[in-house]
Amino acid sequence: MTAIPYDRRTAEDYRAAREVPRAGLAAWREIIGKEARLTPGGTVLDVGAGTGAFASAFHEWFGVRVLAVEPAEAMRALIPSAEGIEVLDGRAESLPVADGCADAAWLGSVVHHLSDPRAAARELRRALKPGAPVLIRNVFPGRAARDLRVRYFPATERAISTYPSVERICEAFDTAGFSRVALHSVPQESAPTLAAFADSIRRDADSKLRGITDEEFASGMADLRAAAEAGPAEPATSWMDLLVLS
Ligand SMILES: C[S@@+](CC[C@H](N)C(=O)[O-])C[C@H]1O[C@@H](n2cnc3c(N)ncnc32)[C@H](O)[C@@H]1O
Repeated sequence: MTAIPYDRRTAEDYRAAREVPRAGLAAWREIIGKEARLTPGGTVLDVGAGTGAFASAFHEWFGVRVLAVEPAEAMRALIPSAEGIEVLDGRAESLPVADGCADAAWLGSVVHHLSDPRAAARELRRALKPGAPVLIRNVFPGRAARDLRVRYFPATERAISTYPSVERICEAFDTAGFSRVALHSVPQESAPTLAAFADSIRRDADSKLRGITDEEFASGMADLRAAAEAGPAEPATSWMDLLVLS
């Protein structure tokens, strides 16, 4: 897929348009707690931390120290500064951290950006303590039907079809000694209602929606508004995968 230049405007747009409200992430908190068994004082490596939504969440949810590694300066600038969150310039393929420093690694919507997934896997093997999990949150080709944007704007699957599949990521990580532990489909509440979700959509700030035609976008918005009217109390629930390797 085409690399996105994360400049200041794109970074601010990303934060405004793509960050899921913390309250909508309860199921993520629960499944991460089960899979990673993090304890206060532990260390999580957030690779491709973006604007830091998950770095802050991990710190608050589990009391861990977060090493937030992010290559784009404009994204790093928006990571909330907090004791317990260390912001580092770097990329997955060459992590700026010590050997064996982390109890878990988190890659949220990052694997489709990696230039060399095998190099990233080698680096994660080096940076993690033995047995520590790699938690990968992503949409994967062939598994995205319950993503809200795909549900209402099916043409967004064109972009997702270029992402690495679960199998490809597992193969790349296998070369560094990681095995697949679990694959969960996890819900998140993107907005309290479908109407609120429709109101929050900013096509100019969303690369997947920019990648579809005007007709496809208009048709999706009409379907979404109709669904919001038919089910005014229905929450805007979207699903993504959590792939766990260890
Ligand atoms: C879609 S954003 C996700 C941000 C954040 N993880 C989240 O879930 O909100 C993808 C991020 O990956 C970063 N990125 C791109 N290539 C990367 C690489 N090779 N290693 C680490 N991060 C990378 C981008 O700069 C961007 O901030």
